[in-house]
Formats: sequence, structure tokens, C-alpha cells
Amino acid sequence: MLASASAPPLLEIRDVSQRYGKTSGEKGLLVLDGVTMQLEEGEIVGLLGRSGCGKSTLLRIVAGLARPAGGEVVYRGAKVEGPVDGVAMVFQSFALFPWLSVLANVELGLRAKGVREAEARRRALQAIDIIGLDGFENAYPKEISGGMRQRVGFARALVVAPNILLMDEPFSALDVLTAETLRTDLLDLWVEGRMPIRSILMVTHNIEEAVLMCDRIVVLSSNPGRIAAEIRVDLAHPRNRLDPEFRQLVDHIYALMTQRTEPAKVREGAFPGTGLGMALPTVSTNTLAGMIEEVAAPPYDGKADLPALADSLQLEIDDLFPVAETLQLLRFAELAEGDIKLTPAGKRFAELGVDQRKKLFGDHLLAYVPLAQRIRRVLDERPSHHAPATRFREELEDYMSEEYAETTLKSVTTWGRYGELFAYDESAQAFSLENPQ
Ligand SMILES: Nc1ncnc2c1ncn2[C@@H]1O[C@H](COP(=O)(O)OP(=O)(O)OP(=O)(O)O)[C@@H](O)[C@H]1O
Ligand SMILES: [Mg+2]
Repeated sequence: MLASASAPPLLEIRDVSQRYGKTSGEKGLLVLDGVTMQLEEGEIVGLLGRSGCGKSTLLRIVAGLARPAGGEVVYRGAKVEGPVDGVAMVFQSFALFPWLSVLANVELGLRAKGVREAEARRRALQAIDIIGLDGFENAYPKEISGGMRQRVGFARALVVAPNILLMDEPFSALDVLTAETLRTDLLDLWVEGRMPIRSILMVTHNIEEAVLMCDRIVVLSSNPGRIAAEIRVDLAHPRNRLDPEFRQLVDHIYALMTQRTEPAKVREGAFPGTGLGMALPTVSTNTLAGMIEEVAAPPYDGKADLPALADSLQLEIDDLFPVAETLQLLRFAELAEGDIKLTPAGKRFAELGVDQRKKLFGDHLLAYVPLAQRIRRVLDERPSHHAPATRFREELEDYMSEEYAETTLKSVTTWGRYGELFAYDESAQAFSLENPQ
């Protein structure tokens, strides 16, 4: 016992930072900043944080799939400089080979490592058995459900008997019931020691999932991603979501995640929370209006506890945060300590008719979203009042990945159309000042 207490951690993340963007070096977007944490034997650690805070980035660095701009990852005393034997990853959704059976898909990694056929088969069948895919060995991916396909993903990771299993939101692409079944199965295997794994590091943006599964939860802040808090979860398994202690922890973490972060020392290009390089979440204007109405009405009368609101709107936390954050960004609401509170403008919005709402929304969009300002200014200045979307997409890609640039542009387009700041022609992929009708 003394030996294990003094044993070095299985994995150490030391002062890891990461930057992205076309403009490399100091000007690139700082995504992770000084992340230091460890993974000990026998624990499940959750990485929790809002969308875009750098969770996947950190996991990819740990897996050796990406190099950090600064700092290092050390696995069993050796610096990680590429994919490592002993560390396996489960992704949000798996690219299974459609022309291969379940069994062949699971065997694949072993065969690639040079494990002989008979041995690979034996181990694959064992992994398939453990993960509950018995009887599906000869099925093809298209013949099985999404949940079963994700099980194949787990089996693929388990079959190499890794010491560390990394999971990037492995349940988020599944429907609620399937996800819950898979979570429970996986936890049972873990608690009973039936998985050949010493420790799990899992990314999630679902607080309940983290509290349900993890021994320790590391909360990352956004822009840049830094460790904001670390919470130990000492509840025994199986955990009960309705247990008051469970609820209390969830509320506590909610509060931590909605704490106002000081926008201190804003550096151009380094702080995407301001300026053009701010990634915008995908939230419809209907959803935004619906949330304002809900908070404005009794019993909330302008101020609501987020967990309670999530309940009454029947939203998951994953869905609630982007909505609340967008309202905050547009200054229709403030977030603090787990509560959302409408600003005077938010309250006014709730009382207005359709056209006046659009006007108010458009005014706020122009005032607080630099990308909307930019699009509008370009359109105003051009004699044609017309500009292709690519122009803005390229600009955004200096700050964020292509994927984020695409969703950001899409959001500003829907919001701008609603607020009647500009029109957008889908077929021409261009913005203009003409009425879309
Ligand atoms: N390959 C890339 N090139 C440029 N920017 C990137 C790249 N990958 C991620 N980013 C940026 O880094 C930031 C963090 O991305 P990351 O995917 O790590 O976040 P996340 O916490 O996993 O988010 P989510 O919860 O949405 O999965 C985002 O702002 C994103 O735009
Ligand atoms: Mg991610």
C-alpha cells in the first residue's frame, strides 16, 4: 500500500498549452494554457468544460495524435511523442469499415500490430463478449444499431488491452436511453474489474454524466482552456442521480461553470471571447426567444436557477449552455453562480411584438457580435451591397477550425436574417442588403 501511494502517476500532463490558426506562433489562438494534471491508477477522471474550451484538443495531445505548443505529456516516465502502446481512444462516433464484419472490425487493430491471426481472433472474441456484442460477431455495421456500433468502438479500444482508455464524448451521439445503458454497462465492467484497463480519462460536457461516472472531475475554463477547478466525487457506485448528495454536486459544478470569468488582459487574437474570432454556437432564434419568455414569466419573473430551468424547458445541460451563453453574449441575460437573470433589454424583448423583437434583436446583434458588424459594414460599403460568404469564412479560419468557422457563419446568418441586418442567398452563398423575399 505504501508502494502504491508513492507510485508515480500513470500519466502526467505538464504545463500543456496549444495554439491554433493560420497565423502561427504568438499570434495563433491560445486554446489551452498551462494545463497540469495527472492520472493515477484505478481512477476515472472526467474533463468537463463548455464547447470549444479545448477538451478534445487536450485528449488528442494525450493520445499522441497532436503535439502541444508547450509543455509535455509523460506516460510511465516517458515523454509522449506519438501514439503510444497502452493508451487507446474511443471517439464520439466510430468510423467502422462497412465492408468488414463486427469481428473483423475489432480484430483490425491487433492485426495491424502484428498479432497472429488465431491470437487476434481469441482476443477479439473476448472483447466482443465483455462489451456485450455476443451474437453480433458476423453482422456488418449497417445491420446493427448506433448503440451497438458504439460498442464495437469500445471493443476495438479494449482489444489492445490498454492501460489507459481515453474517451471523447463517447455517449453524446447516442439517444438518451442507449447512452444510459452503455454508461451503466461500462461502469459495471469497470467496478467489477472486468476491463483490462487501469485508468480512464473521459471528456464530456454533460455534468451529470461526469458525476455519475468519475472519481475526479477537472473543470476547464474557456478562452483559453485552463484548469478552473477539480472536484473529487466520493459517492459509491452504483450512483443514484436522485440522491441529494448527487444533486448537490451537480448544482455545485453548474455554479462553477457559470461563474463570471474576468476578461482580464485581453490580447488581440489571443482571446476569442471578444472580437471577430469568437466562435458562435448553433442556436435558433426561436430557442433564444423561448428561453427569454420562459425566464420572464412566472415562477421565474426574470431570474432562474439553471438546473430548474433545464428541467422546465426539458433541455439537457448540453443544450442549455449555448442558449444561455448566447443570451449573455447579446446582453439579453447575465449568467452568474448558476443563475440566469434577464437584463432590462431581455425583459423588454419578452414584452414586445414580433416586429419590434426583430428590431431589438438586430440592434443587439450589431452592437455585441463583431462578426455581424463586419458583415453589415462590408455590405454597406460595397456599391453592390453584396458579398460572398467565402470572404468571411476565410477570415474566420484565421481564428478557428474550418468546422467552427462554418457553424459560426451559419449562426450569424440565421441571427442576422431574423434581426433583418442582412439577407442571405443560399444558392449563391452570398450576403446582401436586399430583402430575401
Ligand atoms: N485543427 C484545428 N485548427 C484550428 N483550430 C482548432 C482546431 N481544432 C480545434 N480548434 C479550435 O480550438 C478550440 C477548442 O477546440 P476543441 O475541439 O478542443 O474544443 P472542445 O472543448 O472539445 O469542444 P466541444 O465540446 O465542442 O467538442 C476551438 O475554438 C476550435 O475552434
Ligand atoms: Mg470536443
